[in-house]
Amino acid sequence: MNPESLFELMKSRRSIRRYVDKPVDKAMILRLLEAAMWAPSAHNRQPWRFAVLTDAADKDKLARAMGARLRADRTADGDDLKDIERDVARSYVRLTGAPVLIVVCMSMEDMDTYTDSRRNRNEWVMATQSTAMAAQNLLLLAHTEGLGACWLCAPLFVPELVQATLSLPEDWQPQGVITLGYPDQQKEKDRQSVDSLVLFL
Ligand SMILES: Cc1cc2nc3c(=O)[nH]c(=O)nc-3n(C[C@H](O)[C@H](O)[C@H](O)COP(=O)(O)O)c2cc1C
Repeated sequence: MNPESLFELMKSRRSIRRYVDKPVDKAMILRLLEAAMWAPSAHNRQPWRFAVLTDAADKDKLARAMGARLRADRTADGDDLKDIERDVARSYVRLTGAPVLIVVCMSMEDMDTYTDSRRNRNEWVMATQSTAMAAQNLLLLAHTEGLGACWLCAPLFVPELVQATLSLPEDWQPQGVITLGYPDQQKEKDRQSVDSLVLFL
C-alpha cells in the first residue's frame, strides 16, 4: 500500500448527497459493512449495528416519519412555515433519492457497566466513538469503490422514532444514517490549516 495514495484517498473523499439511479450490489454493500467492522473499538466489543434499506417503500416510510417529526419540532419552534416545508422536502429527497440507506446504530449490550453514572457515561461515549470510526471506514472504502456517501445526523435526534419505524432491536440506538450510491455530483471542500488546530507541546 502506497501511503501517498491512502492520504490522497482520504483527502479526496467528499460527502455526496445526489446519486444516479443505479443500484448498489448487495455484495458491495456487505464489503463496505465488513470494512466498517474492521474499525478499532473500545475493548474490541464492536458496538456498531447497521440496518440496510434498499427497498423504496422502506426508505419512504423512514423519510416520511422523520419528516413529520421535523415538521412538528420546527413548527413548535415557531419557524417560518415555508422554510419548514422546504427543509422537510429536502430531507425527503435526500433519503429517498439514495439507492441505499444504512442506519448506523450502536448497542451497549456488550459494553461494560459500572455502579456509577460517570463511568457508564464514559462507556457510552466509547461506544459512540467506536461506531463513528466504523462509519469512517465505510465512507472511505465507498469512495475507493467509486461510490458516494454522506452521513446524515437526523436519526440521532429521533432515535425512538427510527427504532419504531424500522422495528429495530430494542438495544440498537440510531446514531445517524449513511446515504449511499453512485455519485451524481462533484464536491469540493477545504480544511483549516494543520497549524491552526494543533499544539505541539
Ligand atoms: C456527525 C456528522 C453529522 C453530519 N450531518 C449531516 C447532515 O445532517 N446533513 C448533511 O448534509 N451532511 C451532514 N454531515 C456531512 C458534513 O456536512 C460534511 O462531512 C462536512 O461538511 C465536510 O464535507 P466533506 O465530508 O465533503 O469533506 C455530517 C457529518 C458528520 C461527521
